[in-house]
Amino acid sequence: MIGAGTFGLRHSRFIGRSDRADLVAVADPAFGSDRPVPGELQDVARYTDHREMLARGDLDGVIVASPSEMHVSHALDCLDAGVAVLVEKPVAVDREQAGPLLDRLAEDPQARVLVGHHRRHHPAVAAARALIAEGRLGEIRTVAAIWATHKTDPYFEVGWRRRRPGGGVLLINLIHEVDMLRHLVGEIVSVQAIASNKARGLEVEDTAGLVLRFENGAIGTLAGSDSAVSPWGWDQATEDDPTFPYHPGQPCLLIAGSQGSVSVPDLTVFTQPEPSWLEPVAQTRLPVEGADAFARQLAHFADVAAGRAQPLVTAEDALRSLEVVRAASQSLAG
Ligand SMILES: NC(=O)c1ccc[n+]([C@@H]2O[C@H](COP(=O)([O-])OP(=O)(O)OC[C@H]3O[C@@H](n4cnc5c(N)ncnc54)[C@H](O)[C@@H]3O)[C@@H](O)[C@H]2O)c1
Repeated sequence: MIGAGTFGLRHSRFIGRSDRADLVAVADPAFGSDRPVPGELQDVARYTDHREMLARGDLDGVIVASPSEMHVSHALDCLDAGVAVLVEKPVAVDREQAGPLLDRLAEDPQARVLVGHHRRHHPAVAAARALIAEGRLGEIRTVAAIWATHKTDPYFEVGWRRRRPGGGVLLINLIHEVDMLRHLVGEIVSVQAIASNKARGLEVEDTAGLVLRFENGAIGTLAGSDSAVSPWGWDQATEDDPTFPYHPGQPCLLIAGSQGSVSVPDLTVFTQPEPSWLEPVAQTRLPVEGADAFARQLAHFADVAAGRAQPLVTAEDALRSLEVVRAASQSLAG
């Protein structure tokens, strides 16, 4: 693993629970400082320079969980060492930075990169995608997504989270919603957005609203804030990330089509055989089983590293989500 901060540590716990992976080495320059080594990493080989770690030559895969602006160069170093990469989102901070990684992937068929948009691995997302693909909701007309929680001040004491490029609720959080919307509804062809830094007064936005047009004609909205109290958001509606208090049954994504609708991740499905606003809609709840997106992502990464699977989220795919977010972040209005 490269980067043993908040989310690197989280990954180390996911690996600890898995029978598909062992954590053998971690690189982070902070190991050279007086920052205490977390208990989880006491028995793991530790390096201050990831290139020394890669020189071991015995790694099957590396998780890159360093600050976002370093993802591309760290992923490229892993590929140079012949190692498969699970790179955290965002894959890069912009298309220009992602360029060398995409070139490398185009030139080298052995290079394997999975991007950590873990929600795609959640069974509720897979079930909603199947429901839509089977046409059970008809043509998708509109969607509404929300992610809102109130982060506390210490989170923003870490420099990269306060600055561009890399910080801000769009790139840190809402990129996951954008990726999930693209995965479920289709490509986004235009975005209008208003973003604000009024709540925290940082250089980066804390709140944003996006209006999205999809290639298939659907129109949707995405609202998000890292400074608002709510139970609405993927992280609260699932048990993916144990840091967040769990609020089961609260949807964070509503998808409505010409024949029916679904709320995600609770998978409540509403349908009408003959669409009419004057008739009640039938309601059913689909079961969700094995809802551990990070465990599934890790198992998938093991398969990708072993050459048994193609990445569910490629760098090119993740870059499209990044571009939507980048377009939106140009509208910071203060
Ligand atoms: N998938 C998710 O849901 C999710 C959630 C949180 C964070 N993330 C992503 O994970 C990444 C890390 O986020 P975080 O909150 O853990 O940040 P963090 O600041 O807590 O941790 C980053 C770590 O990287 C280390 N680092 C800095 N330079 C390095 C280098 N040259 N080599 C190796 N390590 C280096 C830092 O010392 C720090 O320990 C970000 O890109 C973020 O977007 C993803």
